[in-house]
Amino acid sequence: MNATPVESEQQINVIIDNLKHKPGALLPILHSVQETFDYIPPIAIDLIAKALQQTSAEIHGVISFYRHFHTQKNSTHRVEICRAEACQARGARELEAWAKESLGVDYHQSTSDRNITLDPVYCLGNCSCGPNIRIADDVIARVDPQKFDAIVKGLTTAKVHIQ
Ligand code: FES
Repeated sequence: MNATPVESEQQINVIIDNLKHKPGALLPILHSVQETFDYIPPIAIDLIAKALQQTSAEIHGVISFYRHFHTQKNSTHRVEICRAEACQARGARELEAWAKESLGVDYHQSTSDRNITLDPVYCLGNCSCGPNIRIADDVIARVDPQKFDAIVKGLTTAKVHIQ
């Protein structure tokens, strides 16, 4: 969503006010902020810390503990590589090494142009056709490094289809 800084601060304060009195309020607040903005803006951390009488470092600690939370806007495409056993037996380890090297990122990181975020996933229910990756709702089977490169190239220009 596109809100001015003042509007964003107001929205965050509404979220905090609605949830801060609940037991264990921090996680529901973080979830709600991320749902609203698609990430946790820096200003939210300070506002939450103040409202819950915690330090910003403590809020950061919780955010970094849960992989679900992001402090940067999401990239355009989320590419998930299956790390479960059946896919690993079919070459997922080599694929993930290639993906990290070719994209220049580790898991849970985004490319510098914010086009792609690389994430692990644990079984996509397509075990006999691994290695599998998922992009949005599309599960793509038998992905080797060459196919991975072609898919990534296509992400900049066209929608990827299951093959
Ligand atoms: S192990 Fe990868 S899809 Fe099941």
